[in-house]
Amino acid sequence: MTVHFIGAGPGAPDLITLRGRDLIAASPVCLYAGSLVPAALLDHCPPGARIVNTAPLSLDTIIAEIVSAHAAGHDVARLHSGDLSVWSAMGEQLRRLRALDIPYDVTPGVPSFAAAAAALGAELTLPGIAQSVVLTRTSGRATSMPPGETLAAFAATGATLAIHLSIHVLDRVLTELTPHYGADCPVAIVWRASWPDERIVHATLETLEAALATELERTALILVGPAIGATDFGESRLYAGDYDRRFRPVGTTPRFPEAE
Ligand SMILES: C[S@@+](CC[C@H](N)C(=O)[O-])C[C@H]1O[C@@H](n2cnc3c(N)ncnc32)[C@H](O)[C@@H]1O
Repeated sequence: MTVHFIGAGPGAPDLITLRGRDLIAASPVCLYAGSLVPAALLDHCPPGARIVNTAPLSLDTIIAEIVSAHAAGHDVARLHSGDLSVWSAMGEQLRRLRALDIPYDVTPGVPSFAAAAAALGAELTLPGIAQSVVLTRTSGRATSMPPGETLAAFAATGATLAIHLSIHVLDRVLTELTPHYGADCPVAIVWRASWPDERIVHATLETLEAALATELERTALILVGPAIGATDFGESRLYAGDYDRRFRPVGTTPRFPEAE
């Protein structure tokens, strides 16, 4: 018996790995984390599977579900939205499972920041403009930010910021970022990236609030930084004709691994 933690992706039901899909199909128990996990993924569960939405459950109750599946020898597919490495609450579940000696494995998923960048058709790291992406959030009711992890501190680096769980405090986000990036810095908001009702707004830090006509739905990413929508950037040296690299030394016939 194994608990399979599976990244369910950002919303579109076909944005899950083949491994994740197959593990769901092979597990008689499926625990899924609420409405951000697309219902269509549950269609992969085998007939008669026990399917539980864990959104209203406590950690103790979730672990009790797993313990009961373990006693019955049933594998568990444990679905969380996006990828499991960020804001999934997987860490505390793994700690409990280690203490109980219950086996688990982890299958990654498409994170929402990648789905949002795809929706924008944007590379978040552009030569000479930004070479780092900071995945961050602001403090919420349940989670405060560690000292030092402030938006201002990240903004001071000039990196691209992918700000999660913060659309409800957008005015605060804009106030903290503007002194560092400048009022004309590009910002994009992507709501429900990859869902059928996906929505995108492009603006600058100064014009964003005016560009938002309707009430904000919570599942959104705020992407900020000079790389968003930039067109004036250098080309990557990697593909430059005069760039000497292992598989294409300058002045020789191209050499690829198969030829070695
Ligand atoms: C609890 S976190 C889960 C993050 C997830 N583990 C991931 O890999 O992206 C939920 C937040 O992620 C962001 N998010 C999740 N899915 C999204 C989507 N489809 N479009 C835009 N933002 C999304 C929103 O900021 C939302 O408030």
